[in-house]
Formats: sequence, structure tokens, C-alpha cells
Amino acid sequence: KKVVLAYSGGLDTSIILKWLQETYGCEVVTFTADLGQGEELERRGRRPELLGIKEIFVEDLREEFVRDYVFPMFRANALYEGVYLLGTSIARPLIAKRQIEIARETGADAVCHGATGKGNDQVRFELTYYALNPDIKVVAPWREWDFVSRSDLIAFAEKHQIQVAKDKRGEAPFSVDANLLHSSSEGKVLEDPNTEPPAYVYQRTLSPEEAPDKATVITIGFEKGDPVSINGKKLSPAALLTELNAYGKENGIGRVDLVENRFVGMKSRGIYETPGGTILYAAHRAIESLTLDREAMHLKDSLMPRYAELVYYGFWFAPEREMLQALVDKSQENVEGEVTLKLYKGNVIVIGRASGKSLYSSEIVTFEDDRGAYDQKDAEGFIKLNALRLRLLGRRQG
Ligand code: ARG
Ligand code: SIN
Repeated sequence: KKVVLAYSGGLDTSIILKWLQETYGCEVVTFTADLGQGEELERRGRRPELLGIKEIFVEDLREEFVRDYVFPMFRANALYEGVYLLGTSIARPLIAKRQIEIARETGADAVCHGATGKGNDQVRFELTYYALNPDIKVVAPWREWDFVSRSDLIAFAEKHQIQVAKDKRGEAPFSVDANLLHSSSEGKVLEDPNTEPPAYVYQRTLSPEEAPDKATVITIGFEKGDPVSINGKKLSPAALLTELNAYGKENGIGRVDLVENRFVGMKSRGIYETPGGTILYAAHRAIESLTLDREAMHLKDSLMPRYAELVYYGFWFAPEREMLQALVDKSQENVEGEVTLKLYKGNVIVIGRASGKSLYSSEIVTFEDDRGAYDQKDAEGFIKLNALRLRLLGRRQG
């Protein structure tokens, strides 16, 4: 009857729009989210007017994205397979959530996305749809239509008077997904994992070689595990990440070239640029190093890969993710203070950290006279009891 389409403003989702009208004869509502991908979304998002669409939603979700998705994830220090800061993964649940809300507001019974049948994104969108509306109908054109090549798609577009920019006529050289946290490039020229990506793949960072020969020093302030200021200036979540992105870009920070395991079972090669996120990750770990208890930190760290996997797989709105989030958030109560970092040619080097809630005691740790703060003799019994079982094992061994 009526379907809410996640519409990016690009050629593919324009084709999907027309295809929905043709295939299902249904009313289409479009929803375009500004997550900081850096395109003029007002104009792009309004394009469906030309195709006769009456209900058009174009929304700036940048603050919600960073405050309620990116920052909670960074409290966990989430990294998928050791390197991926999950920039695409974390955006999907927000887009999908808003689609479901818009479906409710407009009386639509279906939602539609433009992710392919081979990837993670389809899973992330649809797990969120079903979690938030168990009875929603889902349309995934890439799994349904008969187009097999780019030229099929272009022919369909031209038949329906959809504008096709000259440079879009041929195959796109690779697929891109971008938002305030990262840009991701995959496919086509990037498919050989043993070939270095051409320089033009990188869109939002200088290369370390091009970055200045002089280091930039910045200080990030934290409260309850979230960054709140840069160089003493308070900033909203989206403004703060935007500013960190500028520092990261200039200093060649946050490029990653990896082969990852997709949830659907295949391996894929991706190029990521996460300039601000890479700085934030290092800074957050540094403020935790002062303020977190050892066992609290180790427990949290041991659960991190699981948390990252849940975000990657698309289980944001699932009880196990929410349970882990509650644990992570509890750990952040005293994670506050300031971290000073040196940014230099792709490196993020922590050079200082300070906190009113610090557990670091120079009185205790000092190599000099500690005036009785710590009795070294206590260590003997500590080691002896810890060694007891090892000695019993050793004796049995003979
Ligand atoms: N592989 C990344 C992920 O699963 C990015 C996927 C979308 N990127 C793209 N270039 N189409 O999170
Ligand atoms: C897609 O298939 O639409 C992008 C890649 C992915 O979701 O992993």
C-alpha cells in the first residue's frame, strides 16, 4: 500500500523509487537522513518531488547520531576484528529506526532500503525494522529485481526519465558509504586485496606523507566517558566530532585498509577513513587508563569484541547489546578529565592525561622514598600464595 524508502538522493535509490511504483503500484514516502555525509541533502532529498512524491522527509540527524549511537559505542572502545571503528554499522540502526517511526506517522505498512543481498547492511536495516515493528513488510529491491548489470539499471532509469549524470553512466569505480564518523569504500577497483588502493579512493584525509611536518597538539575533555570539549571549548556531540575530523584530516589520521568477515559469511576488502573517531578512540582509552579500576577495565575489555560483533551484525536493538551497554555505561561514571594528544603524520600520540577522579598515585608508584605508603614486604606473601599451586604442580611434575 504505502512504503517508506530510505532515499539517499543518488541514482540507485532514484531507480528503486520508480521500480517500487512500477512493481508494487504503491505510494512511496521518501526519507533522507543527514548523518554528516557532506552532501547538499536538502536539494538531493527533495528530488522525489519531480517523480510526483508528496510525502518527503529530509532530516538532520547528526546530533542524535553522534550522541545516542557513536558516543555510546565509543564508551565501549568497540573495534571489529581489531581495526574497524564500525562507522557504517552504527548508522544503520538510526536510519532504520527513523523509517519505522515515519511509517507509523504516515500510515505506511512497508519499508524499503537500497542495500544489496550480499552485505551486512541489509541485515542491519531489517533486524532493526523487525525489532521495532514486528509486523512491518520489508522490500529489498536488490534481492528482488531482475537487473543483472549496471547497463540494465541505466536503461531502466532512462526509460523513466530519471536523470543520469554523465559520470554515473558507466560502472562506478567503487561503492561508498559516508557519515560524520567515517567514509567506507568497497568493491570494483578495491576487490584485489593484494593491490594498494589508488590515491583517489581516499576522500576525507590527507595521506600521512602529505600531512604537515609539524605536530598539532590538542586537548580533549571528557565527562562520564564522553568527549565534551576540545582545547577547553565546550562543543555539542556533532560539532565536536566535526572538529576532530578536521584535525584528523589535516594530519593524515584514520586510514585503514582491511579484509573483514561479513555476517553473511564472505570476506570483503574495505578502505575506511575515520579521522576524528581514531583520535577519539585513543583519547578515550587514555582517560580510562587513569580513571578505571583494573578489573573493571579488564572485564569491559573482555566483552568489547562481543559488543563490536553485535554492532557489526546489526543487533543494536537487541537485549544483549543493551545489557552490555548498561555494563559499559556503569563503568564510565568516573571517566572524566582531560587528555592531551599530539597528531603527527597519521599518528595519534597521547602525551598527557589528568583527572580529578584519577586512581593514579605517584606517592605509591614512585621509585623514590614513598614514606611508608606501600610496604614492599607485603609483596612476598602475595607472590608466595599466588605461587602455591604452581609449586604443587611443579612438585608433581618432579
Ligand atoms: N563493510 C562495511 C560494514 O559492513 C561497510 C559497508 C558499506 N560500505 C559501502 N562502501 N557500501 O560496515
Ligand atoms: C551492500 O551490500 O549494500 C554494502 C555492503 C555491506 O552491506 O556489507
